[in-house]
Amino acid sequence: MKVIVDRRDGLTAVTDAVASGVYERSDKDDAFPRALAKEDETAKGLVRGAWDRKEIRGKRGELTVIHRPDGRGRLVLVGLGPRARWDAEGARRAAGTVVKGLKGKGARTLAFRVPSFVGEGVPFETAARALVDGAVLGSYEFVKYKTKTEGGVEEVTLALGEELGRAEAAVKKAVAEEHDLTEAVLWTRDIANLPADTATPERLAEEARVLGEELGLKVTVFDEKKLAEMHCGGLLAVGGGSAHPPRLIVIEYAGGSKRGRTVAVVGKGITFDSGGISIKPAPAMAYMKFDKSGAVAVLGILRAAATLKVPPRVVGILCCAENLPSGTAYRPGDVVRTYNGKTIEVLNTDAEGRVVLSDGLGYAVAQCHPDEVIDLATLTGSQVVALGDDTGGLVSNDDRLAQGLLAASAATGEPLWRMPLTDYHRELVKSDVGDVRNSTEIPPAGMLTAAAFLETFVGTTPWAHLDIAGPAYTTLTTKKYQPSYQNLGAVGFGVRVVTRYLLDSSRT
Ligand code: BES
Ligand code: MN
Ligand code: ZN
Repeated sequence: MKVIVDRRDGLTAVTDAVASGVYERSDKDDAFPRALAKEDETAKGLVRGAWDRKEIRGKRGELTVIHRPDGRGRLVLVGLGPRARWDAEGARRAAGTVVKGLKGKGARTLAFRVPSFVGEGVPFETAARALVDGAVLGSYEFVKYKTKTEGGVEEVTLALGEELGRAEAAVKKAVAEEHDLTEAVLWTRDIANLPADTATPERLAEEARVLGEELGLKVTVFDEKKLAEMHCGGLLAVGGGSAHPPRLIVIEYAGGSKRGRTVAVVGKGITFDSGGISIKPAPAMAYMKFDKSGAVAVLGILRAAATLKVPPRVVGILCCAENLPSGTAYRPGDVVRTYNGKTIEVLNTDAEGRVVLSDGLGYAVAQCHPDEVIDLATLTGSQVVALGDDTGGLVSNDDRLAQGLLAASAATGEPLWRMPLTDYHRELVKSDVGDVRNSTEIPPAGMLTAAAFLETFVGTTPWAHLDIAGPAYTTLTTKKYQPSYQNLGAVGFGVRVVTRYLLDSSRT
């Protein structure tokens, strides 16, 4: 998607469609909005007519398309909901609604009249960023395996008009940053959507190498031989049942500021999770190609961090393996020794995410000298039960890091909610046979016992765990209830919130 910032008002420039926002009308506030005067003039009274007939109500998600009598494309009026409840997320969704609504209708170019999306609590820069988010993210479709596709909007103009024209430089800067960020999300979605026969651990390593070449990042791939030498027993155990051997992938961005801090970002990269010997029932297996979403998000974060030159040094670590049952698969009862020497008693081979992350986290702490560790993982079904399909679970041993991520979450609209980690959870993961057990005797608080397990591999390093099992992907049923800019399949969840955190958090 091409994104342009233009000083004109959007109605004079020639695009296939021009979109304006309309607040929801109420009994008290039912007069034809003065803000739409220019639109109405362009449409020779057609907007006013639609208003008077109550075709335009301004409800969220409402879309009215009017063809301009001058033959210069369409006027698109998108409902914004009540004025008093207007926020950046509303602008993201409005832009998503417009782009989705124009899909397959021959509109290739689109302009947003930015002032109509500016409001109380949504200054022009925020509005411009949100429109980029919604338009770019909302335009996405996974088309790799489609032999036919419907064309959609390919070029978006943010039309500032006279009132905002003086802000052009500031808007351009914000828009360029937001555009890079959202393009990194689309790139992430394209990899996360690949099926497991294609997106093997080695293929993810190849994606990392190509990314490293493109952006000048150092990439190191540890194959199964190397993993054995390093005593990465977790990755080897989980990957043992598959013909596609495991990989630990390390990708490093040196940092935008000299002597900046180091943030290690670790991702769960299970390319397919069948459950292994503790096999999942068929319906629960249906979407398990998405169990690599954490690791792929780490790739996206590295892409965005390097493109935007975030201040800290960022080391991405992808723990990749395929969890399948076979004669060489690991079994319940096995005890595995991990990278840092700690041992895991395996009681359920379907709790494999924490097993591969043990090596990645141990490696991060021992080798990367991180000031902070953030991990992303589609780790537990409990996370989905607790928080649903839209909100990720955040568990952290460090309040400053947690607050920083929550602030980034509010700014980007990728919802996170902090959950507790206490000695109760720590007690539950102690093993009689080894140091920790990968599954507990009692199931409640599964997201938190999983976090307690991970904590044993980071020790006291400031650490945040993002369990993204719910928000990582949508299905036909869950998509209906998701924001308009979300699509079927991989969401790329985590790329925007973590990159925003890396951009905004100080401490060098
Ligand atoms: N990949 C799953 C978690 C998951 C579930 C992700 C649903 C997305 C949607 C994970 O490996 C898993 O199977 N977790 C088990 C752990 C249990 C066996 C301790 C779970 O949460 O049921
Ligand atoms: Mn599993
Ligand atoms: Zn899994």
